[in-house]
Amino acid sequence: SNSAPTRSTTKDLQKPLAFAFDIDGVLKAGPIVLPEAKRALQILEGNNPRNQKIPYIFITNGGGKHESARATDLARELEVPVTPEQVIQAHTVMKSLVPLYADKPILMVGGPETPPNAARDVMRSYGFNNVYTTLDLHAHAPAAWPFSTVHPDQLPYVRRDDFSKVQFAAILVFHDSREWGRDTQIIIDILRSHNGVFGTEHPPSEPLPDKQIPIYFSHGDLLWGNDHSVVRFGQGAFRLAIENVYKHTTGREMESTVFGKPYRITYDYANELLRQHLISMAPASSATAEAAKLVGPSVWMVGDNTESDIRGAVDFGWSSALVRTGVYKDHNGPPNYTPTILVDNVEQAVIQAIQREW
Ligand code: G3P
Ligand code: MG
Repeated sequence: SNSAPTRSTTKDLQKPLAFAFDIDGVLKAGPIVLPEAKRALQILEGNNPRNQKIPYIFITNGGGKHESARATDLARELEVPVTPEQVIQAHTVMKSLVPLYADKPILMVGGPETPPNAARDVMRSYGFNNVYTTLDLHAHAPAAWPFSTVHPDQLPYVRRDDFSKVQFAAILVFHDSREWGRDTQIIIDILRSHNGVFGTEHPPSEPLPDKQIPIYFSHGDLLWGNDHSVVRFGQGAFRLAIENVYKHTTGREMESTVFGKPYRITYDYANELLRQHLISMAPASSATAEAAKLVGPSVWMVGDNTESDIRGAVDFGWSSALVRTGVYKDHNGPPNYTPTILVDNVEQAVIQAIQREW
């Protein structure tokens, strides 16, 4: 052929191998760390045929604490060094909302509501400076949800204000609701309010505004797996409940934005973290560092949830390993999103992925 003379292009560069681990159902079952998880990470720390460190990050739809606190927990539990730059939680990517809401009043839903790891403090560290919680509103107006009461231990962490003057600009469901009933009521109160003021109703004489108050969810998992014998409801189930009550009380569909896996924004963020991680690990100007810079990593996602972990990996073009230690069960039939490999556990995922890549 008369094609141009061969020149090494980015296509020829071998993409360096990297891993992204889901946490619940892959590395842990509730508070229990799976023994095969520790062994899997030892393989990546150098216990492999090339005695080479292979970079990895954690992408969980869980959350509820700062990334640095999660990194400390993971390091202790998994017995490997973990930096905050290796941790992406569902709400990590909600940082992208800071430019919109940095100083505007927003209603945060989901705990923990009190220290340590109070979600409001985590949000403040991201740059949200004006956060109220459903607990604040419940303490302010106990009759708004008369079926439970604020615990006296929680009172020191309540933020007081004249709520007739606060116009909520948005609702952020940061983590799982600790009180579905109360939080469903208060979220819909705000969505139906007059200009976002708690305790008001949009006047029936005025047409509803075109734009609903924005509501954001940190992830959409319907189900997740822990140390209970049957899979548990995730934030996706909470969203369904709110959507339904909203629809039945307003006749409108609720509009919302969902973060976390399987959405591209989360995988984009993760891919960039892995690329930076590879560049910092590899000796400067080595082939690996160059490849990481130019073509990015070849990533394997190890997950237990086909609808989030595997779907997101397939959509993003990563390889994926589906494990049998969490949400996915063989008896539920073939997964809706086909992983590259289906394996018993995370150790098998790592062993088989490395065999395929090397
Ligand atoms: O609430 C946490 C759960 O939905 C998923 O966590 O680590 O399996 O993404 P993970
Ligand atoms: Mg999981």
